[in-house]
Amino acid sequence: MKFASVLSVLGALTAVSAVQVNPLPAPRNITWGSSGPIQVRQLSLRDSHTSSVVSSAWLRAWNSITTLQWVPAAVEAPISNYPPFPTQTPESKTKRATGGIRYVEVQIKDSKADLQHGVDESYTLEVSKDSSSIKITSQTVWGALHAFTTLQQIIISDGKGGLIIEQPVKIQDAPLYPYRGIMVDTGRNFISVSKIFEQIDGMALSKLNVLHWHLDDSQSWPMQMRSYPEMTKDAYSPREIYTEADMRRVIAYARARGVRVIPEVDMPGHSASGWQQVDPEIVACANSWWSNDVWAYHTAVEPTPGQLDIIYNKTYEVVNNVYHDLSAIFADNWFHVGADELQPNCYNFSTHVTEWFAEDPSRTYHDLVQYWVDRAVPIFRSVGGHRRLMMWEDIVLSAENAHDVPKDIVMQTWNNGLDNINKLTTAGYDVVVSSSDFLYLDCGHGGFVTNDPRYNQNSNPDGGVNFNYGGNGGSWCGPYKTWQRIYDYDFTYNLTDAQASHILGAEAPLWSEQVDDISVSNQFWPRAAALGERVWSGNRDAAGHKRTTDLTQRLLNFREYLVANGVMANALVPKYCLKHPHACDLYKDQTAIS
Ligand SMILES: *[C@@H]1O[C@H](CO)[C@@H](O)[C@H](O)[C@H]1NC(C)=O
Ligand SMILES: *[C@@H]1O[C@H](CO)[C@@H](O)[C@H](O)[C@H]1NC(C)=O
Ligand SMILES: *[C@@H]1O[C@H](CO)[C@@H](O)[C@H](O)[C@H]1NC(C)=O
Ligand SMILES: *[C@@H]1O[C@H](CO)[C@@H](O)[C@H](O)[C@H]1NC(C)=O
Repeated sequence: MKFASVLSVLGALTAVSAVQVNPLPAPRNITWGSSGPIQVRQLSLRDSHTSSVVSSAWLRAWNSITTLQWVPAAVEAPISNYPPFPTQTPESKTKRATGGIRYVEVQIKDSKADLQHGVDESYTLEVSKDSSSIKITSQTVWGALHAFTTLQQIIISDGKGGLIIEQPVKIQDAPLYPYRGIMVDTGRNFISVSKIFEQIDGMALSKLNVLHWHLDDSQSWPMQMRSYPEMTKDAYSPREIYTEADMRRVIAYARARGVRVIPEVDMPGHSASGWQQVDPEIVACANSWWSNDVWAYHTAVEPTPGQLDIIYNKTYEVVNNVYHDLSAIFADNWFHVGADELQPNCYNFSTHVTEWFAEDPSRTYHDLVQYWVDRAVPIFRSVGGHRRLMMWEDIVLSAENAHDVPKDIVMQTWNNGLDNINKLTTAGYDVVVSSSDFLYLDCGHGGFVTNDPRYNQNSNPDGGVNFNYGGNGGSWCGPYKTWQRIYDYDFTYNLTDAQASHILGAEAPLWSEQVDDISVSNQFWPRAAALGERVWSGNRDAAGHKRTTDLTQRLLNFREYLVANGVMANALVPKYCLKHPHACDLYKDQTAIS
């Protein structure tokens, strides 16, 4: 099977005869013929199931096809013909005799399957030679949606107001991993509903299917709560609130595009805002000095401190009500309950905790964290047997871990790359990979904390190792993670098959200390699309070679496509590199990464 590049030109390059556009993510299997493009007329949907999800998705795809009149930016030349040459609109040697294509026929086996973890997302797409229809089959409506986002990328303009597609073409496609996500953080800075929609648009186009919504953090509480309306006193302003209707709108918008929304309320750490409005006593250390300047006393790893009081009984009453309010809004079976970065010193501010320790001197900090697990997890499970919980790995792997965390809780790993993946899968946990060295999209922007005297230096100390001179540039997880770093990550490296079967997929988080509506889209995109392909069809070709170089032109074109579709993706290269495939490669040898 040949994975042609974006626009692979067969035959004489001056007389363009084939327009094989490869979409992103690359399908698992795409085979093109070279009969020359066929005219695409006004396409009508033929869907025997009359699913409104499918018909609305088709209208969106068709609208994008007809309004954009897309032509990928560059003609891909075989590397032997280097240097390649710039864009040209495919010349029309288009077949007209047959009357062109008029229908999209969609056949879905099970149109009732709900959008939940593990739902079948496979599809096939076929244009037979000189056929009048494009045939799509899928197991579920969610697979059909993926077929449309593929199709809308391979129908292009003929440069004369018409549309064409190369034919015949046959695509058999299905994701490698059921969990393909990004994480948006609306606790550090508010992100508007319309900007969240924009991220979902990018996700749908790149076949990412999970939006992990880190709703709140110690700094702000933006969600309107039925049980405790007072919690939004800790939103940044009355405008920076998600009403129940807003949350439902996000969920519906995502669902219509095949994207699940998994909510996260981070507990018991990262908790102050909102909670403290209900009862200040359920939050420990909320008004302490976070004390990173005197580390021995630190109560948080970033301002502002606050952790739910694990021993105070009322904590669980409030947690129960907040959790049930949100569970009634978020339709997904999964719920993320946080559990990262607990700081022991914080609990020195709680009389409930200090008395609990004093009652029995044999008690350890691990016992305290276990107490949280034992009391909170039954609450989290109380919405019914369909609920699957997700936690950050800290609850199992940090210095402040619990003794015994149920093995059915999905662990999201973010530290120590392959090491922690190995530990968690050996222990038998299902794992979502978010290793910060590869997938944290906020890294590399320097520190955000102020009054930082480490910047007050006019010469380069320690040969550039120190703080913001070289080194990590003042970012704990620097440097910035480029699309090549993301795509190259072999997160199942060294795992046994049994361990690898515990990897559910991967997710790229974007923590928002230095992100809001202004930059959220260009921080996610197009880097998240590189992850999209990594988890959809992998980073290797059929022969097992890394195809990072092969992705280059797909991704550069896809960035243009995102922008055209209203997703404000960042530039990755001088446009020259987009228009001259491989001119900007570091190595001419295309097998450099193997
Ligand atoms: C890809 O699809 C073609 C046409 O259906 C088939 O002949 C080929 O075996 C498939 N390749 C793989 C790797 O599945
Ligand atoms: C918090 O309490 C623990 C246990 O009593 C003690 O070891 C630790 O030094 C205290 N931390 C601070 C910052 O006082
Ligand atoms: C807190 O709740 C536990 C479990 O329900 C109960 O055993 C205990 O007596 C309660 N403590 C207080 C101080 O009310
Ligand atoms: C892979 O496993 C080998 C053998 O156990 C070990 O020596 C090596 O360090 C591992 N590599 C990584 C990257 O974990």
